[in-house]
Amino acid sequence: MSEDSYRGAAEGWARGAIRVYAPIAEVLIGRSPVMLHGGGVLDVGAGTGVADAPLRAAGATRIVAADLSHDMLMWQRATRPPAVVGDVMSLPIRAAGFDVAIASFVLNHLTDPVGALVELARALRPGGAILATVYANSSQSANRDMVDAIARAHGWTPPEWYRHLKSEAAPLLGSSTAMRDAATVAALTDITVDEEPVEVNVTEPDALVDYRFGQAPFAEWITDLDPHASVSIRAAAAAAITDTMEPYRPRVIFLTARTRS
Ligand SMILES: C[S@@+](CC[C@H](N)C(=O)[O-])C[C@H]1O[C@@H](n2cnc3c(N)ncnc32)[C@H](O)[C@@H]1O
Repeated sequence: MSEDSYRGAAEGWARGAIRVYAPIAEVLIGRSPVMLHGGGVLDVGAGTGVADAPLRAAGATRIVAADLSHDMLMWQRATRPPAVVGDVMSLPIRAAGFDVAIASFVLNHLTDPVGALVELARALRPGGAILATVYANSSQSANRDMVDAIARAHGWTPPEWYRHLKSEAAPLLGSSTAMRDAATVAALTDITVDEEPVEVNVTEPDALVDYRFGQAPFAEWITDLDPHASVSIRAAAAAAITDTMEPYRPRVIFLTARTRS
């Protein structure tokens, strides 16, 4: 099993990064090509469970979360669906047990995303649906980059796993063509791929800083900061983007596809 890079990141994710990931999960779930009402859903790379609310709202009755990170799955465990620690490349579940598999921002961690799609398909009944998102390679934000620059100026260095993700894994599916090709090689059918900006309602500097500093690559650095330093660095980052702030609209690649009937 791969290393858990999200250890210690759950609270930051659930209080900060969620600002961006929850609205995207809602959009993704709204595109399901199969009925979610009464269905069984496997949420792979579920993290702190941002997909739970929209899945329940859509009527999914049996949700199971899977994630490499025990920490992420433990966030608000008492109110979350059942969960299993596992690698998307080899899930500890039986075949054909679900109607839908969600993979929201997990395929971008992998150097073999086709293998992951094949494994997700194994979890599904014939005709089941895979719903996935990754960031487009074209997704850029000068304000987000400025927040990173302020963090670097205060001692943050991107962890090795994150540098590897950005250089070796994330670019692999970061275009519509690449995502479509991967789904085709994985023998999926009814493939729909869209690349588009998503309105996540992050319009204020503080919100962008909360989102960015809530992401896993910042977790260890923030945890080690003195609380006063943490407050002042957040304020410095927000101040640095106040004049240039515009609504944050990440460009996302949405995949919906089905297993053969
Ligand atoms: C970017 S977060 C997304 C979490 C959640 N889907 C969301 O949208 O908020 C990626 C999640 O995938 C998990 N992950 C990374 N690599 C994985 C793998 N090989 N197998 C299963 N989960 C993995 C991480 O632990 C993390 O919780």
